[in-house]
Order: sequence, then structure tokens, then C-alpha cells
Amino acid sequence: MTMDYVLGVDVGTGGTRAVLVDRSGGIVRSTTCEHVPFASPKIGWAEQDPHDWHKAAGSAIQQAISNARISAPNIKSAGFAGQMHGAVLLDDQDEVLRPSLIWCDLRTQPQCDWLNTKLGESKIIDLTCNPALTNFTLTKLLWVRDNEPEIWKRFRHVLLPKDYVRFRLTGEYAIDVADASGTLMLDVTHRRWSEEMMSAAGLPMSCLPKLYESPEVCGRITGIGAAHTGLNEGTPVVAGAGDQAGGAVGMGIVRAGAVSATIGTSGVVFAATDTPAMDKKGRVHTFCHAVPGRWHVMGVTQAAGLSFRWLRDLLRASSSALSYDDLTREASAVPAGSGGVLWAPYLMGERTPHLDPNARGTLTGLAASHTRGHITRAVLEGVAFSLKDTFSLFEEMHVPVTNIRLGGGGARSDLWRQIQADVYAHEVEILQAEEGAAYGAALLAGVAAKFWNSVEEACDAVVQVQQRVKPEPHSSNVLGKQYQNYRQLYPALKPLFQSMSSGS
Ligand code: XUL
Repeated sequence: MTMDYVLGVDVGTGGTRAVLVDRSGGIVRSTTCEHVPFASPKIGWAEQDPHDWHKAAGSAIQQAISNARISAPNIKSAGFAGQMHGAVLLDDQDEVLRPSLIWCDLRTQPQCDWLNTKLGESKIIDLTCNPALTNFTLTKLLWVRDNEPEIWKRFRHVLLPKDYVRFRLTGEYAIDVADASGTLMLDVTHRRWSEEMMSAAGLPMSCLPKLYESPEVCGRITGIGAAHTGLNEGTPVVAGAGDQAGGAVGMGIVRAGAVSATIGTSGVVFAATDTPAMDKKGRVHTFCHAVPGRWHVMGVTQAAGLSFRWLRDLLRASSSALSYDDLTREASAVPAGSGGVLWAPYLMGERTPHLDPNARGTLTGLAASHTRGHITRAVLEGVAFSLKDTFSLFEEMHVPVTNIRLGGGGARSDLWRQIQADVYAHEVEILQAEEGAAYGAALLAGVAAKFWNSVEEACDAVVQVQQRVKPEPHSSNVLGKQYQNYRQLYPALKPLFQSMSSGS
């Protein structure tokens, strides 16, 4: 039997990961190349250089292929996933016009306000299934239009991060409906660009890439792309997905009832649905899924894993060898509820459920007796409370939740797993292999390569549950009460956040 493979690539925020997968869904090799961390020249700004993603993708793919010692012609197709929402602006020579405003950049509230005044909040939800949020690509384009007219004059094409990398390898302007859902320019219900939204925003349709379903082939590796990556010229490339939908495919979240809770830099609770499920206030995102004919709904915590990294980096200043494991060990010795210490993870504003870029991180309930372990545990609990807010909204919206699968850093730590089971008051599943969005992108590529007949068939064949963690009744009860306290934090502090932001 010839050994055939598919390649999945995830152009993330921290780095680009390349994964080679065989016909049985087994991971043959994975490699990650780091990115330069995003620049934040002002509070709430976040920018990255798209050339750096292209460079990291080239190195990660080359290393994966050479470490796996396989021959490039045996890679039958490739798929890309990536950080969502960011805007890469190109001129008529396909040169990048400025650093990309990425997903967590929050500077575009004036552009959101402008859209809301022009169209009305409910009209925007009617057209795109989502409200105008600072995260979404359209608002980033409008910011450049409003603030950098010289650059705007030269703007011809917009691409999302992974689509820019794929464009450099295939020469095609392409995007999948899942990632396009986070642009505020897609008619999510009908899976097509919204001409009405584009014309209201004053943007030409010609700046948009061509739309595909996620497992569809949207281009082939060119000679230049082959030289950069080591892939064979002509290798088909599928449209792929944003990292959330791609990650969900990798975790088998493809049918209604299946829900994932993933803690990466951001935290996401993601449910597959048969129709677009909407919250009238737009507090969760309603997007097309990477599964043709399906949608998904998700709530996002801006600073989930980021909260823990921030804490570690802060404490490292006093003890340079301090690791996540050291902190987790100390936190494990502290009982559920963290002795009353509460953390609200609004370091980068918050999306679900507050939709408030001015919200700020808050640590409260401190007493002189509290230790570093209490604070660490409070941060882990606070992130889980924030994800629980999305489960509470799903309940209001009647989105079914049958199985909860954990992903990202929150699935790798025993303590964070148990905290999540206790806070969600629901059994959680840990998967045998959880390789994130790159793996999902590889499965999408595998559908195009005919390894499997559909995305669902791919997931059924390869995704396996390794462990189930049940809520511990006493801790779950304590954390249920602490969650009620957590819910009071934001409304109590909102006026303060507002006056602090207007004063800064
Ligand atoms: C999803 C989102 C993040 C980024 C980070 O809406 O903004 O998950 O895609 O990678």
C-alpha cells in the first residue's frame, strides 16, 4: 500500500504549526515555528507582520516534511486554519500595505458606532447574523480608511491571516465560509458575501476573495510555493477554516449536541448547529461551520490562557524559573473557591457576554492570608467562569449540549480539567489526540484527498475519547456559588470601566 499523507497548517497568533497526517488519521509529525509576538503600540492595539506568518509557515512545513522523512509527492493535499478576523491589506501588486490589525485589536469602536448609526444594530444582525464588534475584519478596514488615507488609496484586496499565507503559496485569493463569517461582510445564513453590507460600508465587492466551503479545493501549490515549503508543485490546497471551526473539526464537534470548551490564548465554547442559532443581542457569534450545510455558535473569552500566561510572566519577574507546573501545583493545594479570591479575565476587554472592549481584568476578594496558590487557582477558576457564561447563554438559546470536550491548555492540566467539570457541572471529555486546528485542517484536506467521504466520516473514523472527568459534587457546589458572585462583578464595575476608559 502506498503511504499517502495530508498536511494541516495552523497560522496561529503565537506560531504556525504544521501537522502531517496519514490515511488512518494518525499524526506522523508536527512542527511549530514561533511568530514574533504581536505589537501593541497603544492599549488595546494588536498588530502582526503577515510576512512573518509566511516565513514561519515555510519553515514549519519544510521541517515537518523533512523530519517525517516522507516524499513530497505523497502529500496528497493541504489545508490551512488560522487566527481569525485579522485584516491583511494588499495593493495592486499584492504587496502588504501595513501590519495586520489582528483578532484581539480593539481600536475600532468608533467604526462599530459608525456602522450601528448608519445601518442600525438589528439590521447588521439581520444581514450578517452578528453585531458590529471591534474584532471583526470590516471594522479594521474602516479604521484604516478613516485614519490612514494614503494607505487606503492603495488598498485593493483584503485577506485573512491564513488566506494570505495560502495566497503566497497558490496565487489564489480565496477564503472559506467559516472564516469569512468573522468578517462582518458575510451573509452567514445564505453562505455568500453580503452585497448590502458592503455597499452600506462603501466597500467594493472586488476587494473580497472568492468563497468556498472548507473542504473544497481552492488552489494548487505554485513553483514559488513549492520552493518555499518543500511541497510538490501542483499539490491541491483546500479552503480550510478559521482556527475555531478547524479546531472543532479536529475534536469531532460536527453535529448538534457536541460542544467544545477550548482554552488557548483566547477561550471558546463552540457548539455545532443544524441552522444558524442566534442571540438577539449578538453576545455569541453565529458563524458557518467548516462542515458544508452546518453552522455553529460560539462564545469567546478574550484572555483565557492569556490570563494564566500574564500571571506567570508577572510572577516570573521575582523568580525566573517559575513554570506553569509550579504554579498549578501550588494552586492544587488550595480548595475550590480559592478562599474567596475572584478573577475576571478582562485583560483585553471582553466579548461574550459583555461585548465591552473597555472591560479590564479584576482580582478581588484578597485578604492578607492569601497566597500565590490562591491567586493562581482564582485565575484558573475565573477563566472557567467566563466560559460558563457562554454555557448559560446556550441554555437561554436552547442550544443542545450533550457532550463537552475540552481542548487547548485547559485540557492538558489535571487541575484545570477538574475545575472546568466542576464549574460547568457537567462531565467533560478529554481526547486521545488533541492537535488543535492544524489537525482539523488536515482532516478537511483528507476529505478532498478522498481519504474520507465527508467531514463527519473523517471525525467518526479518527477522533477518540481517552478520558471522562466527572464533576466532584462538593467542589461543584462551592464553585456554583462562586459563579453567582462572579456574575455580579461586571455589572458592579461597568461604570468604573467606562469612566476609566474615558479618562485614559
Ligand atoms: C475567535 C477568535 C480567536 C482567534 C485566535 O473568534 O477571535 O479564536 O481566532 O486565534
